[in-house]
Amino acid sequence: MSRAAVREQVLATARSMNSHGLNHGAAGNVSARDGQGFWITPSALPYDQCAPEDMVWLDWTGQAQGRRKPSSEWRMHADIYRMYPQAGAILHAHSPYCTTLACLERSIPAFHYMVAMAGGDSIRCAAYATFGTQALSDAAVAALSDRFAALLAHHGMICHAADLEHVLVLAIEVETLARIYLQALAVAEPPVLPAAEMAEVLLRFRDYRP
Ligand code: 13P
Repeated sequence: MSRAAVREQVLATARSMNSHGLNHGAAGNVSARDGQGFWITPSALPYDQCAPEDMVWLDWTGQAQGRRKPSSEWRMHADIYRMYPQAGAILHAHSPYCTTLACLERSIPAFHYMVAMAGGDSIRCAAYATFGTQALSDAAVAALSDRFAALLAHHGMICHAADLEHVLVLAIEVETLARIYLQALAVAEPPVLPAAEMAEVLLRFRDYRP
């Protein structure tokens, strides 16, 4: 894919996360790996006011190319790409149900087998740190160990996948799980599936494709 096509897709994905109700305005951020760095959404600019030319390219040291300031969370994106080589795209959103759990500092346990879509038998909640800091990046990287998604305490959620199409699908799934978990919690603490069952689900997911 050409560089122009990647930045167009980054913006299209950011707009889609908003139109799917995962995010609003300029909150959140989206990026895609490209060569020796990545494209990321600009800081503080609502996605419906952005052009593809407003996307910013960063190398691994944080050197930016572009007419806008990169997302304040560029460190978190850069560190996730560095730590998790399978990550081709990253989405961070303030999605309402994930954020509700994150405000309670609650992880999502294996209350539903689809939790395995995030790579394990839980979706962890990372410790709180100020937005845009190295401390937040460190907390997110730790919570993403063996996982494709994490909640960020008192902030939102973050996930990574092979590409932009799959990262949006994963974000929608994680937000749906958070909604159902909160609905279940309103009645009672739901029982969790045994570790052996989640291991079986994870095995089956390896072959779950069209
Ligand atoms: P940016 O607009 O700088 O990407 O910040 C939004 C955000 O969600 C910070 O966590």
